Amino acid sequence: MFSLTRWTLLAITTAFLSAVTAVDVIIPLNTPANAPLLSKSLVSISIEQDRWTDWAGIKSRNQFFYNTFDNLRALAGSPPHVRVGANSEDRTNFDPAIKNFTAAYLMTQSIAKAFRSPAVKNKGIVLDFVEIGNEPNLYALNGLRGLKHNVSDYVPDWTAFASNISGVAGITLTSHTKFLGGSLGGGRHGWNPRSLADKGLFDTSEGKPISTISQHRYSGSFCSGDGALLQSLMTKAHIRGNTTIFAPDAADAKAMGFRYVLGETNSLSCHGAPGGSSRAGAALRAIDYVLSAVKIGVQQVFFHDGIGYKYNLLLKVSEDAALQEDATPFPSPQPAHVHPQSNRKRPTSVSEITVSHPKISGWGSYENGKLKRAVYAHLRAYLPGSESTARPVEHVGLGFDEGGPKEMIVKRLAIGSNANGYADDKSGVTWGGQTYETPDGRVAG
Ligand SMILES: *[C@@H]1O[C@H](CO)[C@@H](O)[C@H](O)[C@H]1NC(C)=O
Ligand SMILES: *[C@@H]1O[C@H](CO)[C@@H](O)[C@H](O)[C@H]1NC(C)=O
Ligand SMILES: *[C@@H]1O[C@H](CO)[C@@H](O)[C@H](O)[C@H]1NC(C)=O
Ligand SMILES: *[C@@H]1O[C@H](CO)[C@@H](O)[C@H](O)[C@H]1NC(C)=O
Repeated sequence: MFSLTRWTLLAITTAFLSAVTAVDVIIPLNTPANAPLLSKSLVSISIEQDRWTDWAGIKSRNQFFYNTFDNLRALAGSPPHVRVGANSEDRTNFDPAIKNFTAAYLMTQSIAKAFRSPAVKNKGIVLDFVEIGNEPNLYALNGLRGLKHNVSDYVPDWTAFASNISGVAGITLTSHTKFLGGSLGGGRHGWNPRSLADKGLFDTSEGKPISTISQHRYSGSFCSGDGALLQSLMTKAHIRGNTTIFAPDAADAKAMGFRYVLGETNSLSCHGAPGGSSRAGAALRAIDYVLSAVKIGVQQVFFHDGIGYKYNLLLKVSEDAALQEDATPFPSPQPAHVHPQSNRKRPTSVSEITVSHPKISGWGSYENGKLKRAVYAHLRAYLPGSESTARPVEHVGLGFDEGGPKEMIVKRLAIGSNANGYADDKSGVTWGGQTYETPDGRVAG
């Protein structure tokens, strides 16, 4: 029966005061069937290949970046994994006189050499994957291949590259380094784990060392449009719509024995929306988004970052502020600090708590078969200009399916002080009274 004496409740809300309504929830105390395990590197980072070394630091360590990774290691048990790639991946050629095949070969040679070097090895950094091609399903649109380029064309093309690259990178069935498969941009449209399998991608000796399938997702595009998108991004139904779209692909990948990741994702493509992507409310969206992804079978969510992008999770604040495309300084907070807390050592599984409310989501996390934490996010954005309406406040009545905890710790993610926080604030977010909005990215308070 129920044996915990300490139990943690992570309560999250964007609002306080007035207009209280009530919703009752029942939290299962034992791990529900099929609750997926939470990867300790669930929140991971994808970095644009262009200038990616700025993040790590070349001449000296980028201490801010290091600290934020170390924060995540302390909270979750592992630093984020890092993918370097994306748009600039297929356009990188250090010598234009060299053809693309040889360029890929030479690049792989350099990567393999770097990962064999004592400087990298001594830091415990390992090369998990080599990715050949970013979003090949879009090659017909972006001019990298012909207008009719399809899965049938892609499979032999990929295999030809892989045949050379596996030799250079030492990728075999038994090597640690494997190929990341797919890296498809967006939803199905004929390109998905099943169609790649049908065309034989995984059958060849080159394709067999693919261990993980990756797909990319943006919840829309901000290449044109306005910035009034924060509430849309935070909307519970939209978050679910943008993740469950991959449920069949995740299920197919799992059935075929692959790990499945969102290898590149964030809010809106074209590098995020001013006023939407890096604001306080985006931290709430990030929590619900990653856990919704876990629910449909995603093992890691790689948030995309690049120099000057509006949706960066982590950035050296002082040096790069001027590079923000919308010309506003990089906003604190860094939403990555809302990584779902888990026990650093024990396996943690996660399960959605049914909340019969269109704007409140709930998640339970379980260790050793028992409830350990629950998190609630109130996803209604309270924005400047809505002062004439009451701040939305919901009372969540907690019930348990058997007995209940003797003790709880409640933490709140608060925006601003009691009466003056807005979902689009750039700063003033605290978590259990602590802040990560510090020059060095370390927690204070
Ligand atoms: C190299 O890229 C060009 C397009 O820039 C493409 O037509 C050609 O097929 C590619 N070569 C290989 C070996 O993939
Ligand atoms: C791909 O295109 C080629 C010709 O451009 C066609 O023969 C083939 O059937 C197409 N394959 C698929 C899966 O649509
Ligand atoms: C890979 O391609 C390069 C450049 O085209 C060539 O020199 C090398 O021999 C190839 N290696 C293998 C293992 O195919
Ligand atoms: C994805 O999110 C966007 C932005 O909030 C929303 O407009 C869109 O409807 C969502 N898509 C789905 C399939 O739910």
